[in-house]
Amino acid sequence: MNDTTKNTKNILITGASSGLGAALAREYARAGNVLHLQGRNTERLQKIAGECKDLGADVHIKIADVTDEGAMQNWLSEADKISPLDLVIANAGISAGTGGVGEDSEQVKRIFATNINGVLNTIQPIIPSMTARGRGQIVIISSLAGIRALPSCPAYSASKAAVRYYGESLRGVLQGQGVGVSVVCAGYIKTPMTEVNNFPMPFIMSAKKAARIIALGIGKNKGRISFPLALYLPLWWISCLSPKLTDWVFSRLPAKTAGKS
Ligand SMILES: NC(=O)c1ccc[n+]([C@@H]2O[C@H](COP(=O)([O-])OP(=O)(O)OC[C@H]3O[C@@H](n4cnc5c(N)ncnc54)[C@H](OP(=O)(O)O)[C@@H]3O)[C@@H](O)[C@H]2O)c1
Repeated sequence: MNDTTKNTKNILITGASSGLGAALAREYARAGNVLHLQGRNTERLQKIAGECKDLGADVHIKIADVTDEGAMQNWLSEADKISPLDLVIANAGISAGTGGVGEDSEQVKRIFATNINGVLNTIQPIIPSMTARGRGQIVIISSLAGIRALPSCPAYSASKAAVRYYGESLRGVLQGQGVGVSVVCAGYIKTPMTEVNNFPMPFIMSAKKAARIIALGIGKNKGRISFPLALYLPLWWISCLSPKLTDWVFSRLPAKTAGKS
């Protein structure tokens, strides 16, 4: 058992049917923990739920779309009644190539709806219960693209910056009320989202390793969980420079292309 997560009992994760969300579910799956896992693909979600049950967790699954505000409100409220939630991870997200085609105008709307409204629909309903109890942890999965906009994915970068800013500000609002907020700015992780990329992805890591780093950060109530450092630091530095200086570099980077749906 991981020391930093041993006291976390009741956990809700969106986008647990694939990639990082599934790895986070496995990371927290153990006897004594209740997992509430959500996705849209029943078969994949049931498979992950089965693996988490085998690891000893009590697992509840929900098939829902994070953009459906009413459904999310109902689910969060049902889950909180089953087991008062200690940890809510807003993980579900899409990028160009995973939710449909490239960043055309329809895809831009879908990216904003999923990556911004989907996050809000996940965390807003739980804030009153957590603050009333004076405990809890909210985690938003942003990206290193939310530190410095990447030229090939404007909507994705903007959506990740929006939820990063929201989470980092919300942390200040909730800190006096016993509720922690962590924002995850991750680099490349091996998941179906990155499978569609046909360009080099520096320092790409397994979803299992990323989930472990995230759980350690959550256990310490870190405000920003950024990794890998070797990618975070240069991106952070570039974010301080004028576009005049960075355009040349970014114009030579490979673009994310539309892939499978
Ligand atoms: N992979 C990376 O390199 C990387 C890096 C930084 C941050 N991230 C972030 O990590 C998160 C997980 O991404 P991933 O790489 O694990 O991608 P993934 O394997 O494509 O998984 C995405 C998950 O989100 C769910 N999802 C997407 N749209 C949804 C919607 N409208 N309603 C409900 N669930 C929805 C999917 O559920 P269904 O499949 O069941 O529809 C799936 O479980 C995303 O927020 C992503 O932006 C990823």
